[in-house]
Amino acid sequence: MNYSKHILCIGAGYVGGPTMAMIAYKCPRYRVTVVDINPARILQWQSDDLPIYEPGLDDIVRSARGKNLFFSTDIETGIREADIIFVSVNTPTKSFGVGAGMAADLQYWEKTARQILNVSTTSKIIVEKSTLPVKTAKAMERILSSTTNGVHFEVVSNPEFLAEGSAVRDLENPDRVLIGSRQTPGGLSARDELVEIYANWVPPDKILTVDIWSSELSKLVANAFLAQRISSINAISSLCEKTDADITQVARAVGMDTRIGNRFLNASVGFGGSCFKKDILNLVYICRYYGLNEVADYWEHVTRINDFQKERFVTNMLNVMFNTLAGKRIAMFGFAFKADTGDTRESPAIYIAKRLLEEQAELVISDPRAIDNARDDLKDYLPRVSFTPDPYVAAAKSHAIALMTEWDDYRYLDYESIHRSMIKPAFIFDGRNVLDHRRLFEIGFNVYPVGKPVLTHL
Ligand code: UDX
Ligand code: UDX
Repeated sequence: MNYSKHILCIGAGYVGGPTMAMIAYKCPRYRVTVVDINPARILQWQSDDLPIYEPGLDDIVRSARGKNLFFSTDIETGIREADIIFVSVNTPTKSFGVGAGMAADLQYWEKTARQILNVSTTSKIIVEKSTLPVKTAKAMERILSSTTNGVHFEVVSNPEFLAEGSAVRDLENPDRVLIGSRQTPGGLSARDELVEIYANWVPPDKILTVDIWSSELSKLVANAFLAQRISSINAISSLCEKTDADITQVARAVGMDTRIGNRFLNASVGFGGSCFKKDILNLVYICRYYGLNEVADYWEHVTRINDFQKERFVTNMLNVMFNTLAGKRIAMFGFAFKADTGDTRESPAIYIAKRLLEEQAELVISDPRAIDNARDDLKDYLPRVSFTPDPYVAAAKSHAIALMTEWDDYRYLDYESIHRSMIKPAFIFDGRNVLDHRRLFEIGFNVYPVGKPVLTHL
């Protein structure tokens, strides 16, 4: 078949896999190849058991795979044959040297850029898909322009805004697609090539073209603003608990102001996920680099409030369970960082589990999708932690349930029989405010939501 574009994506992760599957699905005339250094991951993408769980993803992969969507470990051939290369390798927080714990670790990025440089025999457009510190494109351009064989690379920024659990919906119907380019003839023509791809299914008024630095920075800022909203509502949840106010009612009253808006105002046990903390720390690092210490402090506090919220949850459990958790069995309902994903990266459940284990509690972790990742996250704590997909098994003979993830499954359990199977007094700590607290109280539970009055028989 004669394809009209050859697209490559390096990095078959949570971002690269679904994004490329959607492009292939929407654009049958393009050939889309996704490569990764991890052969096991590629094998999974080629199988019926995809490496990530996303509602709707199986269907679009199945319909495009083998026709115009291909998964491979042959990175070099992929590079050689592509006109447009999306780079979606991970950019974790640096764990060593200058900027450790704050700055982005760009080693995979640089390695990928050098591989592109070494292998390419024709000019290409390089698309930054990964979230990167502002000005990364400049470093990319420097590396990529060190060739003498006449090959030219145009770097554009096209950050991804999909959220896990709703990735397919977000990709199919995005709030906006952001494309940042140099304002040179080459940059503008590369930008137009990208616009052409998305125009296959995204309305033109939602495709936003900007300069490259604004594009890189906007992604960091979008995540920082989202995380800030959660830290704002979580900060107020702690005040609600002291003043008998109810955070749900406060959020509703505040969110009805259209200037504020009602989304992303759910108080919780804290935000998780691979992006929020990493991107804020990145922003903080960049601000400090430019001497903007007040600005850096301001954003750093968003992550501090998140840490405070997680720690508060544990301290509260300890206090109300008579100041000792030693030897007590605690069931964790959910381990994923949010519902509808098996991903546990930076999940608040990891921190809380470790703190409970420090208090010598015995943990039973239950989750519909994240058990394998949870087992890996807590592998150093066996045998004091065990795992079961069945919440009834997890709760039996427990002193407490700590709800970590807002899976729908947990709303509709038979809490009467769960209560009967537990040690009394039985506690529920609802870290997501998704359960029917009044009903649980009537069954006999002592109920501790986030940012709401407690319902207790004690
Ligand atoms: C990652 C970053 O976390 C995010 O900030 C960025 O926007 C996109 O990349 P995600 O897709 O969730 O997001 O990461 P991950 O699932 O870890 O996927 C990255 C993939 O790149 C992995 O499969 C890894 O094997 C692959 N990789 C990494 C390469 O193919 N080459 C490398 O040199 C390094
Ligand atoms: C986020 C951004 O939403 C997305 O645009 C970006 O591309 C990647 O980072 P993601 O991390 O997948 O996506 O999920 P998101 O829905 O943003 O949730 C992040 C965390 O915040 C989760 O732990 C979630 O439970 C928590 N959260 C979200 C709250 O605690 N309260 C809320 O009101 C909303």
